[in-house]
Formats: sequence, C-alpha cells, structure tokens
Amino acid sequence: MQAPLTLLSLLLLGAQAGQHWTYSVQISLRPTMHMEAADGTKYVAEQMHFHWGGGASEISGSEHTIDGIRYVTEIHLVHYNSKYGSYDIAKDEPDGLAVLAVLVEVSDYAENTYYSKFLSHLSEVRYSGQSTVLSGLNIQDMLPKDLRYYYSYQGSLTTPPCTENVQWFLLADPVKLSKSQVLKLENSLLDSQNKTLNNGYRSTQHLNGRVVETNFIYHPNQQSVLGSELQFHLTRIDNNLEYFRRLLNR
Ligand SMILES: *[C@@H]1O[C@H](CO)[C@@H](O)[C@H](O)[C@H]1NC(C)=O
Repeated sequence: MQAPLTLLSLLLLGAQAGQHWTYSVQISLRPTMHMEAADGTKYVAEQMHFHWGGGASEISGSEHTIDGIRYVTEIHLVHYNSKYGSYDIAKDEPDGLAVLAVLVEVSDYAENTYYSKFLSHLSEVRYSGQSTVLSGLNIQDMLPKDLRYYYSYQGSLTTPPCTENVQWFLLADPVKLSKSQVLKLENSLLDSQNKTLNNGYRSTQHLNGRVVETNFIYHPNQQSVLGSELQFHLTRIDNNLEYFRRLLNR
C-alpha cells in the first residue's frame, strides 16, 4: 500500500442493531500506518474509533474485559488485509480485517497531553454532521508505550454488521488518561435532543470455544515476558492535516 498524502476524516458513526444504537468518534488513518502479524500478513490502517461508558452511573465502556474487569474506555484501530487493496473489498472477505484494540485506564489527575488536541476538537463535532480539520495529530503517541504484548483471537466487528472476519490484537499495556479527559470524551457528543451519547459498547460475547492467545505468559496479577511476534510499523504523523468529521449513519 503506497501512501499518497491524503486527508484523514474523523466521523461519528451511528448504527442500529435491533433496538441498540451504537456510535463512536472515528478518525480515518493514513495507509502509511500498518502492522504485520507473526505469519507475515500485512494489515493497513483504515480508521480508529472509541467506545466509552459514562452517564449518571459512571459505567465503564470498554468492550473487552480482562478477568471480568471492564476498563473505562476502549480504542479500536481497524486495519484491512493489504492483499485486498482496500477496506471496502477486505471487509467482506473471511480474512479481511484486523483490529488493534487498546484499553484505557484512569490515572486521576495525570493529563495525557498526547490526547489534548483530539479532545479539544470534540467540542466542534458535538452534533451529527458536523466536521472539523485538525493538524499535527500524532496517532503513534496516542497508543500505549509498550506495543509488544497482546492477546489475539478470531472474532467479529463489535458494531453492525458484526462480521466474523476480524483478527483481534488487544494490547496488554493500557493508555492512561486523566479522569477529566475521560469525562470529556464521555460527555462531548450529543444526539439531536441534546442527550449525551453514552455507553456505546457491545456486551461481552461468549467465547464459543475460541482460543485467546497471548504472546506473553499471563498470570492474573502480573505479566511476564516471552518475546514479541508482532511488529508494528507506525509512521509518525507530524505536521499533517487531518480532517475531522462526524456522521450519523443508519
Ligand atoms: C440543544 O442545545 C443547543 C445549544 O444550547 C440549542 O441551540 C438547541 O436548541 C438545543 N436543542 C434541543 C432539541 O433542545
């Protein structure tokens, strides 16, 4: 995948599955950003979106739980298998997609300044259909420091159509945001009735015999190291324009 300079879009997605609405803020990613799995499969970055909880009961909003613990927020970087050449083709193929998932932990008052720019622009996309342009957002800095250790399994998209063609890579190292940063993410987006959009996560699915693999030895209370298989080739994105917009789709 060659990487011409392209404008990146950020959108708010909405989708309806039965009675359940899902939505998310989404940043389109540059195809210069990609990851390579242990078997050599190359996945090209397409978009990054967020799932959060919030609301009156301060519900946590991650989609994955680790030993039953739901984290406050979860970030998904959706990639497609480079052999298909585009997301639109890959999304319908059995080995088409991979998602790099990142959990967010609250660390009280420690502001993560790599998120400041992204969060400050959320106020410009409060309503469906609004858009804004960002410059100089560095996606790599928004990821956890340690990209070596992960859980991996075959699964589905967590938003409709929930296609079963996703290789998941859930990073062991979380991103830390301050409490006020998480509150900002949880309370920035409104529906047409000015109601805050909270709790955009899918309930945990049964494993159904699926195997979750890790590339480290997992102990419930500590993580020790086996060695890394997945290599990330994340291109620094500096001084580029990123295009933010927000859509509400059926
Ligand atoms: C939502 O809030 C905005 C800004 O305060 C206001 O202009 C608008 O009329 C409100 N919409 C509804 C449906 O209450």
